[in-house]
Amino acid sequence: MNLKVNLAGLKLSNPVMPASGPLTGDLNKMIKLENTGLGAMVTKTISTKAAEVPRPCIIGDNNFILNTELWSEYGPDKWESEILPAYKAVSKIPLIISMGYSPEELAHLSPRLAKFADAFEISTHYVSEDVDLFKRIIDSVKSHSDKPVFIKFDPTIPNPEKMAEAVQEANGDGIVIMNSLGPVYPLNVNKKSSPLGSLNGFGWISGPVIKLLSLALVKRVAKCCELPIIGVGGISSAKDVIEFMMTGASGIQLLSAAMIKGKNIYSEIINNLPQELKKLGYKDIKDIIGIAKDSNPEEKFLKKTPVINSDKCVKCGLCVRACPYYALTMTPEGVAVDIEECFGCGLCQSRCPTRAISGVI
Ligand SMILES: Cc1cc2nc3c(=O)[nH]c(=O)nc-3n(C[C@H](O)[C@H](O)[C@H](O)COP(=O)(O)O)c2cc1C
Ligand code: SF4
Ligand code: SF4
Repeated sequence: MNLKVNLAGLKLSNPVMPASGPLTGDLNKMIKLENTGLGAMVTKTISTKAAEVPRPCIIGDNNFILNTELWSEYGPDKWESEILPAYKAVSKIPLIISMGYSPEELAHLSPRLAKFADAFEISTHYVSEDVDLFKRIIDSVKSHSDKPVFIKFDPTIPNPEKMAEAVQEANGDGIVIMNSLGPVYPLNVNKKSSPLGSLNGFGWISGPVIKLLSLALVKRVAKCCELPIIGVGGISSAKDVIEFMMTGASGIQLLSAAMIKGKNIYSEIINNLPQELKKLGYKDIKDIIGIAKDSNPEEKFLKKTPVINSDKCVKCGLCVRACPYYALTMTPEGVAVDIEECFGCGLCQSRCPTRAISGVI
């Protein structure tokens, strides 16, 4: 099975990378993470000053992580003189250096960090619809280095298609989709406050709950832009990697799943990718890139009604309770469908735990 991918000239042995964050925040962390078999490394975002991070700054649940981290708690001096030279001396994979934020800050950082970088990733969460600002950001890095520049989108970007075109016009080399989503507010009713240490208790959410939002953004950008896309947001399995790549990503990153389930998730995903691709009949991961990006070209209006397989139905009643159109009833013989009342919405089929329902989706 070939897992090799090419990202704007970067050659990766596989498409799996860490998303910028605490797992790649210093030398030891990057070395430990590289040992999981990653295709490339991505640093914590470096800015012109060390960040003062309010704490607690990371809390988690089964399906999400909330964070109030800022950029790196180390300033550029430490990255330039200690962390990056020591990492480059032992690392064997491409290094993407994440930097932020303003064009002025990037013009200061790029010449200092370029000698260590195989590419740059620029965090742009403060940019909304300002096309000109995107162009100045890319110019400020490109005028100090010839390394590829990836622009990382914020999920709240109002017009991703327009901004993707702006990245392309400004000679950006790729787009990373997407950052964590927020602000969100996790109130603890006993303490009447958020557990997070940030002002107002706000945080930014990531992990499996944001996966479908990220996939939609990948699809929107892939349809209008030729640049390579790195998909990130909620990935937690080899199957998720395949979904992102079929939708148009050439590489992927993940972070939250490693904090929810453990850091060995990186090697698990890399090891599981060949068998998941083989099940689908592929021998080369490059063959799946973008093959689903033009899917669902039209709306469909035909109503289809459910067929219940009584051999598989365990009479749990979930479909009956869930049906928004009151079209299902439980009878001594099993689930009965009122074809007139059924709207053909698909919910029952998607929720049946034993896959006893077919015919709608
Ligand atoms: C604790 C934490 C710290 C993060 N720090 C950064 C950062 O410094 N720079 C950045 O671009 N994104 C940062 N992110 C966002 C992630 O890189 C990623 O885009 C987001 O979490 C979605 O991916 P995931 O669902 O796999 O975590 C951070 C996310 C978390 C949870
Ligand atoms: S959800 Fe599935 S298993 Fe449960 S009652 Fe409905 S058809 Fe049967
Ligand atoms: S398809 Fe929708 S409306 Fe029809 S039975 Fe299932 S849940 Fe009810």
